[in-house]
Amino acid sequence: MADYDVIIIGGGPGGYVCAIRCAQLGLKVACVEGRGALGGTCLNVGCIPSKALLHASHSLHEAEHNFEKMGLMGGKPTVDWGKMIGYKDDVIKANTQGIEFLFKKNKVDYIKGWGKITAKGEVTVGDDVHKAKNIVIATGSEPSTLPGVEVDEKVVVTSTGALSLPKVPKSMVVIGAGVIGLEMGSVYARLGTEVTVVEYLDAITPGMDGEICKVFQRMLAKQGLKFIMGAAVQGVKATKSKATVSYKLRKNDKEAALEAECVLVATGRRPYTEGLGLAELGVEMTERKQVKTDAHWRTNIESIYAIGDVIVGPMLAHKAEDEGIAVAETIAGQAGHVNYGVIPGVIYTAPEVASVGQTEEQLKDEGRAYKVGKFSFMGNARAKAVFAGDGFVKILADKDTDRVLGCHLIGPSAGELIHEICVAMEFGASAEDIARTCHAHPTFSEAMREAALACGDGAIHA
Ligand code: NAI
Repeated sequence: MADYDVIIIGGGPGGYVCAIRCAQLGLKVACVEGRGALGGTCLNVGCIPSKALLHASHSLHEAEHNFEKMGLMGGKPTVDWGKMIGYKDDVIKANTQGIEFLFKKNKVDYIKGWGKITAKGEVTVGDDVHKAKNIVIATGSEPSTLPGVEVDEKVVVTSTGALSLPKVPKSMVVIGAGVIGLEMGSVYARLGTEVTVVEYLDAITPGMDGEICKVFQRMLAKQGLKFIMGAAVQGVKATKSKATVSYKLRKNDKEAALEAECVLVATGRRPYTEGLGLAELGVEMTERKQVKTDAHWRTNIESIYAIGDVIVGPMLAHKAEDEGIAVAETIAGQAGHVNYGVIPGVIYTAPEVASVGQTEEQLKDEGRAYKVGKFSFMGNARAKAVFAGDGFVKILADKDTDRVLGCHLIGPSAGELIHEICVAMEFGASAEDIARTCHAHPTFSEAMREAALACGDGAIHA
């Protein structure tokens, strides 16, 4: 007799969402989590704490740069780092406890400890053996480092250490101009740290729309971030109080070094499968050490599924959540589905960057005939009123059918605005459908409509 219909290993956004959906569908479910708190990387050492620090440091930036313009006098606030970290920790606690509450409400058993799949349909946690008809692996990912770089989470840190530094460093080298490097780099730049980003490629945020990348880099440089592009980091040597990053420029093999009080290694993440017993069970893996699944999140072993960062696809909390819901529905005998073509990506800097669907580069590669509708936030009254006129919206639509194929924007609340396009794309909308939809004035969202209008007869305020 199985103890459970489903045991989920991992209590991050993939795992906990899957557990709640399983319970809602009438399945007896348990979620195994070893870190002592639910919410995974996202809530404990990722999305949520970084957003708290982004909010706090952005508020400081607003006070320093824009308050006086609005007649708010009083000078520059000082930073009490201990208090700021305390605020961030309170945000984490409130959110992780919220999930414990949801588990109780939905009658999901929370098994504390590290789980191992000891046989088909069997998960062992410490000395306890639990039987389940189905197992879902949702163990997420961990920061990956570079050869020659030893992380101590004090001087040489990953995103985890960067969220809990003992003090605001005077200088920081960020290795990797991806999402983590730029989000955390801009937090510290706003707090007064001299931030230098060293990136292997010639453009920041690989995979994003090229035009957006260029404007984004220019804006970050204006905010004080320095960039060394086309530079391969060779190694990092650290002492107790500083570190030296050596790199080689790709164009001429010239070697150079940079010294800083803190080095953030943000060169990507790798799937986390340690101690799960997958090799003993014969679970097939990809070349990149991800758990291999079919289109229904099934591994090669019957009744064992996998979702989230541990499988292929973008390492995003919301992608994991969608897979969590879909796999729960699949296990319950329904038709679980994820539309991988409409997964938004957001970078929570100021301004925010957001995108969904195909980039212009991808459309060109495909040879697809497309049109571009662009609109600058300078033409948006609301954005201008709040000193947020920098940035633009770009909608890509099929040249013949007008169907929306992608959207890329940089500007105020971009991470919220993008969802209008996600819904439109889910419904197979045309740019004209968005252009003919009434948008409240004055809102940032009018810029989306104007970009859609620009796919047709033209924007009004351009
Ligand atoms: P990333 O893959 O986004 O970027 C890593 C960067 O490091 C790349 O630009 C790469 O070219 C560069 N790099 C690699 N080796 C290098 C070397 N030797 N020298 C110099 N540069 C080098 O990885 P990141 O930022 O660490 O993020 C990891 C994952 O977490 C990503 O999948 C990301 O999407 C996700 N994430 C998403 C967030 C969001 O949605 N807002 C926030 C934070 C993370």
